[in-house]
Amino acid sequence: MSAREPSAGSGPESGDHGPRPVVAVVLVAAGSGQRLGYGMPKARVPLGGEPILMHALRGIVTSGVAQQVCIALPPGDGTLRKMCDDFKGELADGGPLLTIVDGGATRTESVRSALAALEEGTQAVLVHDAARALTPESVFHRVVDSLAAGALAVIPVIPVVDTVKTVEATSDEDARIAPEVVVGTAPREKLRAVQTPQGFDLGTLMKAHREAAGFDEAQAAAITDDAMLVERLGVPVHAVRGASQSLKITTPLDLIIAEGLLEGPLGARWVEG
Ligand code: CTP
Ligand code: MG
Repeated sequence: MSAREPSAGSGPESGDHGPRPVVAVVLVAAGSGQRLGYGMPKARVPLGGEPILMHALRGIVTSGVAQQVCIALPPGDGTLRKMCDDFKGELADGGPLLTIVDGGATRTESVRSALAALEEGTQAVLVHDAARALTPESVFHRVVDSLAAGALAVIPVIPVVDTVKTVEATSDEDARIAPEVVVGTAPREKLRAVQTPQGFDLGTLMKAHREAAGFDEAQAAAITDDAMLVERLGVPVHAVRGASQSLKITTPLDLIIAEGLLEGPLGARWVEG
């Protein structure tokens, strides 16, 4: 796949990898947090005394990679909107532009509405889950460095520690033995758990989402990340090292782990790059 053409004025910094593209981060925060079971949108759930959304936002801004952060919020959520507006006021001059959009009924729709609100001149986009509130700066940098070096799509990954099997529902006659039966075992050394931020050349991601707009309900329900839409285009998706701290806060146990990372006895030692 061809490398990104360095364009005039393409970003504020140049590293070893090539000129930094003009980057927008899409922060999807419009989910309802059903599995966390807190009775409020997950972005509002407190973590270390601050809402999950604020951890995610500060992480992005501190990384310094973004010229724009476009946040998809649950439609009509005045609390989260005010939080973002207040945070805008906190941002120093030269900080990223903060844009707020209404999220959609699915994550993909939330990404799509944020993509429609990106500033002209944006060259690359990082799609990030607010639920990954503790993603370290280093991960943002690895993703942007890879884009600067020519990747059209790049995702942070970590090795899978469990053996992963595919299963099918058992036949009626075997149902009394067990509900499922194993049909295959993937070679673990080749498996990676995928995180965000996922980085893309903007045109590539826009094309991938345009094609996905024609999906039927079953296909749409099967979209679990943006990279898989880009894979369908035949564009190579590159993988860089993610981080364990970047866990997606999904269940109550994840929230306990995240609290532990912030405050517990392991906290100070937890400085994985
Ligand atoms: N998300 C979104 N819009 C949706 C659904 C999800 O912006 N309609 C975002 C979530 O806010 C989250 C990320 O996508 O940051 C990953 O989704 P997930 O972890 O599933 O969060 P929720 O959908 O909120 O949780 P649940 O599925 O348990 O309801
Ligand atoms: Mg969800």
